[in-house]
Amino acid sequence: MASGLEGVVAAETVLSDVRGEVGELVIRGYRLDELAGRRSFEQVAHLLFAGFFDNLPDEQVFAARLGSTRAELFDAIHPALPGLAQLPPYDGVRALVAGLADTSGLDDAFRLLALPAVALPALVRQRDGLDPIFPDPTLGHAADVVRMLGRDAGAGALDAYLATVSDHGLNASTFAARVVASTQAGLTSAVLAGYSALKGPLHGGAPGPVIDMLDAIAEEGDAAAWISRAFDRGDRLMGFGHRIYRTRDPRADVLKAQVAKLAGSSERLAFAEQVEQVALAELRRRKPDRVLDTNVEFYTALLLEAVGFPKDCFTAVFAMGRTAGWLAHAREQAMTGRVIRPASRYIEPPRQQAA
Ligand code: ACO
Repeated sequence: MASGLEGVVAAETVLSDVRGEVGELVIRGYRLDELAGRRSFEQVAHLLFAGFFDNLPDEQVFAARLGSTRAELFDAIHPALPGLAQLPPYDGVRALVAGLADTSGLDDAFRLLALPAVALPALVRQRDGLDPIFPDPTLGHAADVVRMLGRDAGAGALDAYLATVSDHGLNASTFAARVVASTQAGLTSAVLAGYSALKGPLHGGAPGPVIDMLDAIAEEGDAAAWISRAFDRGDRLMGFGHRIYRTRDPRADVLKAQVAKLAGSSERLAFAEQVEQVALAELRRRKPDRVLDTNVEFYTALLLEAVGFPKDCFTAVFAMGRTAGWLAHAREQAMTGRVIRPASRYIEPPRQQAA
């Protein structure tokens, strides 16, 4: 049996390919470096949706509809904000997603794509005792998120980030979304499955703890000692290792280049690079038979911190981008008409003695 389904091909997809041996990510025929920072998140979402939704408008109308959906959703979610702002932001966003209609149509796909972009900044501001900012439907998606957060820089970096994480083969959350979609449940149900799988620290929950690690090391002033103790405790280093990549995750360098462009980030970036080198050396020393390298989450943490998101929001920003992939995969799976239903091997336990 393949533990963790390692190496098992469970779907055919035209959406993306994770080329683990060479460290390449291809989305609908384009290498990541041809998309991130070159095409907007809206354009990449449009690329992913093509062929999976009836009446998909052209790129320009698609972006405009995403903008108008942000505005429409703001009014709808506003009354719920004070209550939901008591929850961790990820749970607040997920609760709002759960309230959306559950069909397989394009209108619902737009709402699912737009909702985290509107809800996350609004929840953060509500928690901080500030008024949520109404969306500007004329802006690009990432620029509007940054504006709604109350910041005025970092839109380009966020746009590149959202495109970078938009899709990534059959990762755990995408697989979860496809399982639900295979039952012909609606898109909201499939996307909610994605949210739930993404949340864990072995998947999309890693970047917040990356900041905790960097802060703890900065305070102690000795990266090697801190990392060595983490290994001795049996901890995993967040932001390192990957099931598929046998080399560096290509998303790490795309995001690192975006962080380097952000004003005021050079000192933090230099420190993170030092920690990364110490961590990689220790990973190679302690696990010489595995190829463990930096994954997307290490530089995600730096990028989202520099844009101005609190660290407990990072996973929700990941969901903001990955929803594009979940939606396309959900449609691709549902269109096969075949339910996902693997087998299990029963290991007969000893029978309990009757009392
Ligand atoms: N730190 C320390 N040791 C590690 C790490 C790490 N980050 N990653 C893997 N290892 C070790 C494991 O303990 C294991 O050792 P063992 O064979 O002695 O038991 C060995 O390397 C192999 O690990 P696996 O569990 O087979 O790796 P798997 O493919 O199942 O897991 C995963 C991949 C979950 C990403 C893992 O590397 C990890 O936990 N990383 C830290 C969390 C993280 O960064 N998550 C984000 C991943 S990217 C994403 O999902 C968007």
